[in-house]
Amino acid sequence: MKWAVLVGGTGSNLRALLESGFPVSLVISHRSGVKALAVAQQHNVPERVILPKGYAERAQYDAALASALEAFGIEAIAMAGFLRWLGSDMTRRYRGAIVNLHPSLLPAYPGLHAIERAFDEGVLWSGVSVHFVDEGHDTGPLIAQMPVARLVSDTLEDFRGRIQTAEHQLYPRVIAAIDGGEVQLVGNRVVYEKGEQEWMHGHF
Ligand code: GAR
Repeated sequence: MKWAVLVGGTGSNLRALLESGFPVSLVISHRSGVKALAVAQQHNVPERVILPKGYAERAQYDAALASALEAFGIEAIAMAGFLRWLGSDMTRRYRGAIVNLHPSLLPAYPGLHAIERAFDEGVLWSGVSVHFVDEGHDTGPLIAQMPVARLVSDTLEDFRGRIQTAEHQLYPRVIAAIDGGEVQLVGNRVVYEKGEQEWMHGHF
């Protein structure tokens, strides 16, 4: 499968994916000048910036995104710091082939600032989630989750660092599994080729 990664931030997950040896055919950012674009350049991956402000409506933005994806023959999409909601045309077109990474144990703390909100509320456990993308916001069938403890001695940065480490371990693994057909979306259910997989709980 030809994969695109949609970014908008520091690109640490894009880097983890590329450093795992996974081939990425295209990187698209919704923001210019972000570190994720430099990561793509360092790895000789074609990159495009598609800024929302050039488009009056979301559907037009999504159409621009779709044509860039088509131009590169993209078959599957991994979102990694792309903080824009996609419309239903897009999510339907790539149903079962578009995944998102989120820094919490969904359905807890969807949306922005998930790490900070969990920390401020004093949770003892949070973690990371990977899910197939549907029309909702940080919703859709969960593929894998990895729990992360918040220790009493943690600063926000300690906690954030542990969550990011978990993301860098989990996401490349899940993407490779989807690419290899080990996990797929059937109806609304995630089906694992070898039955229940330990890695979906992040124990590997
Ligand atoms: C990651 O923490 C990812 O979970 C989060 O954006 C960050 C991107 O970091 N995504 C969301 O919050 C999606 N709702 P990166 O640019 O260093 O990969």
